[in-house]
Amino acid sequence: MSLKSQLRIAIVTLVTLLVIAQSLLSLRLAAEDKIRDSMERAQVVADQIKDLVIQRVNEQARAVQPPPASMEARKRLWHHLVASDPELPGLLFKAAANATTVIEAMVADDANVILASTLPAREKQTFPPLPDLSEWQKRPLWERLVEVLIQPQRHDYAITFPLGVQSEPRPILNIRVVISTVLIRNAIIGHVQQMAWVSLLTLMASIVLAYLFSNYLLRSLDRLSARIESIATGQFTPSKAASAKEAKEFADMQSKLDVLSQQFRGAQEDTMQLRSNIERMIEALEEGTLLFDPDQKLVRASKAAEQLLGIRHAQVAGRTLNEVFPPSTPLGAILRDAVQKDQGVRDAAVTVERGEAGPLRLLVNVESLESFPEPGRDSLLVTVRNAETRHQIRSQLDISTRLAAISRLTGGVAHEIKNPLNAMALHLEILKSKLDGDERVGKEVEVIGGEIARLDRVVKTFLDFTRPVEVKLRDLNLVELARQVAALVWPEAERSHVSIEFDAPSPRVVVRADPDLLKQALLNVVNNGIEAMKSGGRLVVAVNREEDEAVVTVTDQGGGVPESVRDKIFNLYFTTKQKGSGIGLAMTFRIIQLHNATIDFASRVGDGTTFRMRFPLVDASSEPATPAHAGGASAVESPR
Ligand SMILES: Nc1ncnc2c1ncn2[C@@H]1O[C@H](COP(=O)(O)OP(=O)(O)O)[C@@H](O)[C@H]1O
Ligand SMILES: [Mg+2]
Repeated sequence: MSLKSQLRIAIVTLVTLLVIAQSLLSLRLAAEDKIRDSMERAQVVADQIKDLVIQRVNEQARAVQPPPASMEARKRLWHHLVASDPELPGLLFKAAANATTVIEAMVADDANVILASTLPAREKQTFPPLPDLSEWQKRPLWERLVEVLIQPQRHDYAITFPLGVQSEPRPILNIRVVISTVLIRNAIIGHVQQMAWVSLLTLMASIVLAYLFSNYLLRSLDRLSARIESIATGQFTPSKAASAKEAKEFADMQSKLDVLSQQFRGAQEDTMQLRSNIERMIEALEEGTLLFDPDQKLVRASKAAEQLLGIRHAQVAGRTLNEVFPPSTPLGAILRDAVQKDQGVRDAAVTVERGEAGPLRLLVNVESLESFPEPGRDSLLVTVRNAETRHQIRSQLDISTRLAAISRLTGGVAHEIKNPLNAMALHLEILKSKLDGDERVGKEVEVIGGEIARLDRVVKTFLDFTRPVEVKLRDLNLVELARQVAALVWPEAERSHVSIEFDAPSPRVVVRADPDLLKQALLNVVNNGIEAMKSGGRLVVAVNREEDEAVVTVTDQGGGVPESVRDKIFNLYFTTKQKGSGIGLAMTFRIIQLHNATIDFASRVGDGTTFRMRFPLVDASSEPATPAHAGGASAVESPR
């Protein structure tokens, strides 16, 4: 039962009890009044009858001559006078009629034989002994009321006056007035009934009023409970301002509820935000995650997990661990062991067969997650990641660390070489002028001059490479830039019988980049592609949008990168070409790093190579751009 109903019942009951008590009290007072009133009247009637009898007996006795001599004679005379008086019954009746409660008035002799009565048929009968009215009046009022109003049988009570002479202690006549409870009831019942009706009406009116009043008082409770209801169902519209008539406590409570609801809403929004962030994060992770509930049923599998394991969430959702990964498979065996021993697994390497997608080497982690509502019953988190990607990241880190180390070590040395080289070139010129066209050494001097110039170029490019670069980032349409590069290499490609294709489904793919640096980076890769196709072919430059990345791919149909040199092609001065410098890809790598981007390649010897550069998209990421200044690749820490 609601608090409001309880309070309402309490109020109505209280009022009802009060009204009933009040009614009973006034009923009692009124009944007492009425009874006393009728008793007094009966007493008056009894007095009147006494006077009447005394008067008539005295009058008639005076007329009797001679007066009775003995006491016995007087008694007989008096009895005779009363019994023979024809008017007395009528007079008695008249007197008795003054009191509604008197059922009979009579005069009896000393032996209680009735001499005259308001009921003539009773004459000469013996008057039955009746309890005295004064006794009755001493009884408690409630008892008397019950007797009068409720008990069906009639009770009679008498008021008795003995009449005699002063010298004689025994009475000669007994005057009796009989009062009946039936008549008392008749006398008061009308009044009592009327009062009962009034009480009943009062009671009903009070109940209705109490009900209405309690409603009025408790309407704030309704408002509060409606408010709580709306908060519970997630509606947070602020409540209407409490009216001034409302109790202060209720108004306080309501405003506190409002504050609570605001906080609740905030917390709920935070949680939702956090949840969606976490989900986005999980989806963005290259790692695949699978979550099994305490009953080992799969509750979620991220997209990456679907891809890496070659499963579809829709098909495996709700299945058990053993069903998704049968223990007969290597991965299933690892998971079963982890569960049985209740032990986590770190980076266990395993090869999964993925049907058409082909086998893949994965690193598997297993962790148990404590579940909050039921401690002790743990969920299972399985994460898988491509072992190859990890290898690639590691090799990229290796390259950048090596570049950083080289530039730190050799930057100073290069300067030390450049100065003597300049001096040597200068002295060679002086030597040349002193020799003045001497045929014998002219050729050697030329060779020395050429080598000095070559050394100078090498040192110069090296210095270029190691010098801190100023990067001027701005929003840049990658499609436009790639198209310019393709156009730039066109003449060179034509000469090598290479056709250039440009492919960009979207006209605008915006990244934050330094146009000059990026053009250079792309140019190096495109040139390598053309150079790789010695007998001509097709080179495709493509710009695509992939989720929140911009991807530029350069695909050639050249001889491919042999397995043995794959780890080295980004190294500075690494080249397999006779006239190569080995600077192109190193420079590209560095520029790509300065743009917060990545570069990798896939190659099949004999078929060709694809270089792929990935840039963060401007509209997909609110991350600030890379720092404007970066010296070498020194920002990258060693992975070990
Ligand atoms: N598209 C490609 N196909 C095959 N090999 C390539 C390709 N691009 C680069 N390479 C290899 O990487 C080496 C380094 O390239 P790079 O740094 O541009 O220097 P260079 O072009 O001066 O040799 C090349 O000598 C070549 O062996
Ligand atoms: Mg090159």
